[in-house]
Amino acid sequence: MNQNMLKELSTVTSLRYRPEFHLAPTFGWMNDPNGFVYFQGYYHIFYQNYPYKPEWGPMHWGHARSRDLIHWENLPIALAPGDDEDTNGVFSGSGIVKNGRLYLIYTGHHYYGDNNPEHFWQNQNLAYSDDGVHFTKYEHNPVISQAPSDSTHHFRDPKIWEYDGMYYVILGNQSQDGLGRVIIYRSENLFDWEYLGELDKSRSVSNEGDMWECPDFFAINGRHVLLTSPMKIESQQQKFRNLYQTGYFIGQYDYAKNQFKRGKFQELDNGHDFYASQTLLSPDGRRIVIGWADMWESEFPEKEDGWAGMLTLPRELTLIDDHLFMRPVTEVHTLRGRVLGSGNLPSVQPLLNGESSTVEIQLTLAAQNFNLCFQNSQEQDIISLHFDAANQEFQLIHHAHPQDDRFATIEQSSEITLALYIDKSIVEIFVQNGAAVFTERFYTNAPPIIRINGNNLLGHFMIYQLDAQ
Ligand code: FRU
Repeated sequence: MNQNMLKELSTVTSLRYRPEFHLAPTFGWMNDPNGFVYFQGYYHIFYQNYPYKPEWGPMHWGHARSRDLIHWENLPIALAPGDDEDTNGVFSGSGIVKNGRLYLIYTGHHYYGDNNPEHFWQNQNLAYSDDGVHFTKYEHNPVISQAPSDSTHHFRDPKIWEYDGMYYVILGNQSQDGLGRVIIYRSENLFDWEYLGELDKSRSVSNEGDMWECPDFFAINGRHVLLTSPMKIESQQQKFRNLYQTGYFIGQYDYAKNQFKRGKFQELDNGHDFYASQTLLSPDGRRIVIGWADMWESEFPEKEDGWAGMLTLPRELTLIDDHLFMRPVTEVHTLRGRVLGSGNLPSVQPLLNGESSTVEIQLTLAAQNFNLCFQNSQEQDIISLHFDAANQEFQLIHHAHPQDDRFATIEQSSEITLALYIDKSIVEIFVQNGAAVFTERFYTNAPPIIRINGNNLLGHFMIYQLDAQ
């Protein structure tokens, strides 16, 4: 399809659900963030994209860049499928800068042509750019042509980094015994890769999954974190309730022995809509994570409007004890416009009465039972967040997903802080400075009404209009 035809098709027909400060595809479909990297003064983010329809299709890499991680400029599609090394899709991958050149490493997806979508093979490829806008696929692709002999066909999502003068790549993989794992390769030059073996492996399908998608690996506070998106973990009461999970293992990695000693799998985000996250190290040393703010097999009502999917706010990760905290990057404050409301609880009700669909709410409360509720213009509940002070437990009820609540338990505290970022059809709720986060898509035709209820509530709040321009 040429660029003119693409233009004619590419019309988003309504802005009702469209975020203003979260990245969404200009048209068509978006899933995983890819190639999150800092290059020549810009943060670059790429994403799994089908630019012709708001449906998953042969994957391209959509592309945007930003000076501040908040205001994004859309760029032309960086990678399109259809070459020998990526016949049926340019799947997820990552980016790295070497000698002033930006390299992307991505999975080529290939079907065997028997109309069976489960019958495929995958390989790993490079592309590069000197201006951060135009990309050339490496002429000798693939750089990793086949999976190790004890692997199934699930062999994808390379994440690259440099350590001690060498390059490393990990891949999401499944071994022939049906367990998910991450395998690791090393290179001196980005082009020739030596297989080092397994970095880590699922200990059982029900607890740790049968395929690990989109792995990431980094050091923080002298420890190592393996972040990955396992499939087929079984839900356990209040945990692992999404179709697929994204979470992490904390441990210690020995490069010389390729040995990772780690603890148990923990979920990164507590909401319904979070998957396939990827991190970068910013020039000022922050470990920043961004995820797909959706889940496979969701309904995506925005498809009616010509697009589907968005990314979360970039969030700074910190490790405290064995727990990762996520806070929106401080640059998000550049969005703050006029104050829409402030005061002590419970004097003002509702907190917000449909004034705006792009807002930040900061709330501080004494630790007591409360219910924070989003309503549509008919005052029907859309999302409710209950806090049970006796158990220090949050329960998030999303009324579009009945009987499918989400939970978070926090450490004992006399005070609760909540920060909510609402952007048309998404809310990200940061609890206790990022100790827990709920990412939720929601759909209302008018800006939500937001109330907080409880007996003798004590606390205060501040609400800002957020302006993306
Ligand atoms: C994760 C994922 C990746 C794959 C991509 C395809 O959501 O399944 O493993 O590379 O999406 O779009």
